[in-house]
Amino acid sequence: MTDTELLRFITTEDKEETGELFSRARAVREQHYGKAVYFRGLIEFTNYCKNDCYYCGIRCGNMKVRRYRLSLEQILRCCAAGDMMGFKTFVLQGGEDPYYTEEHIREIVQAIRRKFPYHAITLSIGEWKRESYEAFFRAGANRYLMRHETADGEHYARLHPTWQTLEARKQCLFDLRDIGYQVGSGFMVGSPFQKPQDLLEDLHFLQQLNPQMVGIGPFIPHADTPFAAYPAGTVELTLKMLALTRLLLPKTLLPATTALGTIDPKGREKALMAGANVVMPNLSPVGVRGLYTLYNNKICTGEEAAECLLCMQGRIHSCGFVPDMGRGDSLVALKTP
Ligand code: 5AD
Ligand code: FES
Repeated sequence: MTDTELLRFITTEDKEETGELFSRARAVREQHYGKAVYFRGLIEFTNYCKNDCYYCGIRCGNMKVRRYRLSLEQILRCCAAGDMMGFKTFVLQGGEDPYYTEEHIREIVQAIRRKFPYHAITLSIGEWKRESYEAFFRAGANRYLMRHETADGEHYARLHPTWQTLEARKQCLFDLRDIGYQVGSGFMVGSPFQKPQDLLEDLHFLQQLNPQMVGIGPFIPHADTPFAAYPAGTVELTLKMLALTRLLLPKTLLPATTALGTIDPKGREKALMAGANVVMPNLSPVGVRGLYTLYNNKICTGEEAAECLLCMQGRIHSCGFVPDMGRGDSLVALKTP
């Protein structure tokens, strides 16, 4: 597709055109992954963060958050519970919490790796130096998720304080890829000041990085952030970006995100129908779920992990797909050194 064609899809509101786009994306997904939808167990282990992204509810500038950290024992208990339910992948996600040194993270990864030798271990803990990423990889981490958020430098600067730069973030993503991680990047749809051209740049950046996974969800305002008064991204535009990503990166993994399920009760089903093939139910202890609030009205904060698992399996069946509890490795080849 040319840039003109891509921009047309990004901006069109023609129902027939978008319906066509979604069914093409669904066909491409089926060609590579069949009807399978993969599960990842998400463990939100700290909501402390030294960064100050203007959109995010757990930014350091938000004094109203009650902060928490899970102990290694709690993390291992979440993993064990997830393992009992059949999960073969754990995603450890947290804010950039200075309490955790490289050594600390290494120990956590090693402890999980010792107990679960064949599971995929995914980290989602933000920007570190290359040597740290290498240390985590040697300790047994296989995958890393970090959205680029927006691939346009000027737009990035309007969403973040000056000390957080797009260049640094991109460098981290290329480092992770070079080390041999399965990498996930991605962006928000409808974040303040975003233009169609920015979304086009997101697609171009993804083509350049060629990540194993791409997380795409709508921006949703959080009341205690500078962006409280901005409108949320729309379901339609999010679905179009998912579908275009599926067409441009046919073999990538695309999660039906919780944020999409938050702005539309059928959002995750619609994502599956537009090319998504992954879901990430929450394995965090129910007691802390409500505290990991990146945006308001987040769904699934009251449900036990087992409830979310059953709920998701039902939703997947309801739109004709098949839940797959395997590791669900990406078909995108790893970068060979
Ligand atoms: N709305 C939607 N998504 C958000 N994220 C952070 N804050 C928000 C928000 N207000 C997303 C970012 C981040 C991911 C973990 O959550 O894209 O990378
Ligand atoms: Fe959590 Fe449906 S996925 S309640």
